[in-house]
Amino acid sequence: MMDLMDARHTPVIAHGQEGADDQAMDQALMLRVRDLAKDFTLHNQGGTVIPVVAGVSLDLARGEAVILTGVSGAGKSTVLRMLYGNYRPTRGTVEVRHGGRLIDLVSARPRTVLALRRSTLGWVSQFLRVIPRVPTIEIVKDPLLARGVDDDEATQRASAMLRRLNLPERLWRLAPATFSGGEQQRVNIARSFVDPAPILLLDEPTASLDGDNRRIVVDLINEARHDGAAIVGIFHDEETRERVATRHFDLSQYRAAP
Ligand SMILES: Nc1ncnc2c1ncn2[C@@H]1O[C@H](COP(=O)(O)OP(=O)(O)OP(=O)(O)O)[C@@H](O)[C@H]1O
Ligand SMILES: [Mg+2]
Repeated sequence: MMDLMDARHTPVIAHGQEGADDQAMDQALMLRVRDLAKDFTLHNQGGTVIPVVAGVSLDLARGEAVILTGVSGAGKSTVLRMLYGNYRPTRGTVEVRHGGRLIDLVSARPRTVLALRRSTLGWVSQFLRVIPRVPTIEIVKDPLLARGVDDDEATQRASAMLRRLNLPERLWRLAPATFSGGEQQRVNIARSFVDPAPILLLDEPTASLDGDNRRIVVDLINEARHDGAAIVGIFHDEETRERVATRHFDLSQYRAAP
């Protein structure tokens, strides 16, 4: 059996220990956002500028789950996309722990952003990016194989994850292109949580799941957090928010001036 206690699984620093050891606290810091702002410029509509958020600063440590709140249109998904290097901020920095260092996603080269996504940043939405003809079980095994886990163990862990998410075994050898929305969503969750990234960005991963499956996903999120993941999430449903959050971050207070 492979030893999986690598840097990605460093245990959470015990509560109360933080103040005693500044260096340990620095090591726990996974994400540092400073003065983040986003305006959209609609080039095909007369250059109209839509200010969305401004002045967002946030520190996120291992073992924390920050839930972004605010009305529809407040900019929750926009902020999350900036944390993934998907939308370019108008202003501000997004520093991500990568190995022993904090690297600013905003000024990083594209290949560095890709490297960060491969090893450190996980994006989980309600949508599975379907790769044609690849069987479900292979999609879920892939992150494990990429990390050098041997094939037997990867199969075993992927199977356990699919079983836990109630995905019927007859579907495992099929590509998910023809699956229902909820089935695809569960394949996506299985792939994301079979070996969770150190920083997980969750944009409504439980939307449209039924209550039982939603509770299973909440358990997976909380287990990843207890194992040291740092989480930023968006959830529409109040119960899920309360079960996942260690902290709330209300974006309504960071509305950019029109
Ligand atoms: N690619 C884009 N181009 C132009 N405007 C955008 C773009 N993406 C988002 N916006 C605008 O930014 C604002 C915030 O959108 P965002 O999707 O971040 O909101 P949200 O808080 O996630 O809302 P919801 O709860 O409905 O998902 C909206 O007014 C939206 O129109
Ligand atoms: Mg959104």
